[in-house]
Amino acid sequence: MHYPDLKMARIRTDKKVEIKNVSYDFDPSFQGKKYFLKTYGCQMNLHDSEEIRGYLEQLGYTKTNELSESDLVVLNTCAIRENAHDKVFGYLGRCKHLKREKPDLIIALGGCMAQEENVVTEIKNKHPYVDIVFGTHNISDLPKLILEHTEKQNIEVYSIEGDVYENIKYSRDSKYCAWVNIMYGCDKFCTYCIVPFTRGRQRSRLMENILEEVSGLKNKGYQEITLLGQNVNAYGKDLNLGYDFKDLLESVAKIGIPRIRFVTSHPWDFTDEMIDVIGKYRNIMPYVHLPLQSGSNRILKLMGRRYTKEEYITLFKKIKESIPNVSITTDIIVGFPNETESDFLDTLEVVNTCKFDSAFTFIYSPREGTPASKIEDSVSLEEKEERLQRLNQLVNQYSLEHNQELEGKIVSVLVIGINEKDHNKIYGYTENMKLVNFFGEEDLIGQIIDVKITVAKSFSLDGEAI
Ligand code: 5AD
Ligand code: SF4
Repeated sequence: MHYPDLKMARIRTDKKVEIKNVSYDFDPSFQGKKYFLKTYGCQMNLHDSEEIRGYLEQLGYTKTNELSESDLVVLNTCAIRENAHDKVFGYLGRCKHLKREKPDLIIALGGCMAQEENVVTEIKNKHPYVDIVFGTHNISDLPKLILEHTEKQNIEVYSIEGDVYENIKYSRDSKYCAWVNIMYGCDKFCTYCIVPFTRGRQRSRLMENILEEVSGLKNKGYQEITLLGQNVNAYGKDLNLGYDFKDLLESVAKIGIPRIRFVTSHPWDFTDEMIDVIGKYRNIMPYVHLPLQSGSNRILKLMGRRYTKEEYITLFKKIKESIPNVSITTDIIVGFPNETESDFLDTLEVVNTCKFDSAFTFIYSPREGTPASKIEDSVSLEEKEERLQRLNQLVNQYSLEHNQELEGKIVSVLVIGINEKDHNKIYGYTENMKLVNFFGEEDLIGQIIDVKITVAKSFSLDGEAI
């Protein structure tokens, strides 16, 4: 994608990753000021928001959960599907309204949408009340943009990825579970996907820096870490330093944090050695999120996924056979341009073969600038919605069956928090990422305990602590 309007800076001229540190000093003029941060999208965005919060709190801002109380609103946006856009522009309307009452309110928009040229143009032309726009490659510029803030709209977005930052002072959401970025961007360029454009090419962090961060989290008492990347299995390929994801995973496991997870896996980069490492270490959780996207070989080819349904099933079975008690979940897109009923039936067939523990299912959404968005599509939205319903029915049936297998069993649960609807209940996740609700005291939060499963539902389990 070409962004003539956006700044072209920090262009990497060689393969070497330049590493930068960044932090900000407390500024007394921000004392007592409040920020409201709203995050859309994936775990990567949630983790970026922890970085944003870190910077804002270094400056002197404190967090509020009430939009109306805020002096600064930051929207960390998602671009993966059109409905994410609609939500953000809807929310901007509320911010605009608030700014009429509070003219000093600063409104900042960052994240994946900010990397889209048409969005930036729309904000310039139709949303002049937005003060600051910053992209995914310059999150650390937000405090600078706030400090420079004047009446004029301040837009600073880089179209090309830059350096990898280290020693980021995150303000983390949880004291028990932490995300750890192992890489940024993606090189896979699936034809429907906007991520390689909004997040840039793949840049892996150096293994020694990741291990240092993980050791620090262990010392702070973290019970669980999730290694984050758009395609974790390709970790290290851009570095050419002789190590890859299996080496990283093994080294991380040896640090000894009780629970290690990783997302997201791409089938094409998943090797047998990686499966061996996952199966070998007790603290690498038996849970793999393995996006299928489609079960039709014709569509998989058009999507640029680089595997056939047969190869996917072979990998799926290898993982199931090699890792005891593993759960596998997936992502599926229905209604890729010109998907036929027969293509769709192929997807249902793979679902029937793999019987996923659960699946995130989506209707294809054309994203400007991606190759797939140029394909003329003959399938109506009604037909796509009907296929989605049929797919969800099947997926939910298998989720329930998997959950029912757990009834009467004792599972290990990391307790995360208090159930929002029933405050006498707490909730947590099993090793293979199943949500369990049960009666218990707040002081169990952060502990790994045994829970007996009493009732299985499609999307969660009820249990009792033992
Ligand atoms: N339309 C619908 N779903 C998409 N995804 C990615 N791009 C699109 C798109 N254009 C889905 C994929 C991916 C998940 C994070 O979002 O299934 O795995
Ligand atoms: Fe998008 Fe494909 Fe990269 Fe996943 S692997 S982020 S779907 S381009």
